[in-house]
Amino acid sequence: MASNAKLNLTLLALLITTATVATGYTNHTVGGDAGWFFDSNTITSATNYSSWAANQTFNLGDYLIFRSSTNQTVIETYNETTYRSCVTDDASDTDTFQYGGGNTDFGQSLTIAVPLTIEGTNYYFSDADDGIQCQQGMAFEILVNHGIGLPPSLNQPPPPPYIEPPGGDLAQSPPITITGGSPSLNNGAMGGGFDSRAMLCSLLIGVAGCLMF
Ligand SMILES: *[C@@H]1O[C@H](CO)[C@@H](O)[C@H](O)[C@H]1NC(C)=O
Ligand SMILES: *[C@@H]1O[C@H](CO)[C@@H](O)[C@H](O)[C@H]1NC(C)=O
Ligand SMILES: *[C@@H]1O[C@H](CO)[C@@H](O)[C@H](O)[C@H]1NC(C)=O
Ligand SMILES: *[C@@H]1O[C@H](CO)[C@@H](O)[C@H](O)[C@H]1NC(C)=O
Ligand SMILES: *[C@@H]1O[C@H](CO)[C@@H](O)[C@H](O)[C@H]1NC(C)=O
Repeated sequence: MASNAKLNLTLLALLITTATVATGYTNHTVGGDAGWFFDSNTITSATNYSSWAANQTFNLGDYLIFRSSTNQTVIETYNETTYRSCVTDDASDTDTFQYGGGNTDFGQSLTIAVPLTIEGTNYYFSDADDGIQCQQGMAFEILVNHGIGLPPSLNQPPPPPYIEPPGGDLAQSPPITITGGSPSLNNGAMGGGFDSRAMLCSLLIGVAGCLMF
């Protein structure tokens, strides 16, 4: 009896732990169905990104998914001065990063995944059109909570280096491909996600329970 009850409790704990680990992180599509777009004819953003952000809870290890095109940029900064300025001219590459930059063709569709790796206030904007996009709504801030903490795969994020957005001398800049996210995500034949879940799982509940993965 007693040992049966104990077994049941163990199974219950196992199930709860499994559910938490499996569903602990959220991918937030920026702007929802509207995506991350700016209409330069009407000079308006596709949606109100501040309102969108205000309605979400962000945790470490979540991703922002920018469904966008090369007409917009994705700048991440931890520096409020840079955020308010809407440009990156004076930005430092220690607190400001551009994701998915380097494509100099207009209008190419682009999806950029940005992992949330730093707790606290994070700022995002598009510095395209000399800051006009940002001034006209392509900007939002979020508060990143601790949640369940970073998964091992994101634990030492090397943020991509900041690169100058395309300026007047577009034709001369060679195309550079910077992919968003951490390179370690693609490490290993089984993929980082599987490994990290399995690792976390073994740490938490012992190897036997991890066969469920
Ligand atoms: C969230 O986005 C990341 C980065 O693109 C991807 O690796 C992961 O599979 C996505 N997770 C879900 C639940 O869609
Ligand atoms: C977006 O909505 C907020 C309220 O959530 C409002 O204060 C702000 O003015 C709106 N921005 C634009 C560009 O309409
Ligand atoms: C916020 O989310 C709730 C439900 O999740 C939804 O009903 C509401 O329309 C959203 N508000 C905005 C401004 O998106
Ligand atoms: C933020 O960036 C500005 C330049 O945009 C720089 O002058 C300032 O020192 C930075 N602030 C911090 C706290 O690093
Ligand atoms: C992208 O920008 C180019 C040049 O300004 C413009 O011709 C094109 O319509 C834009 N495409 C989108 C999808 O906004």
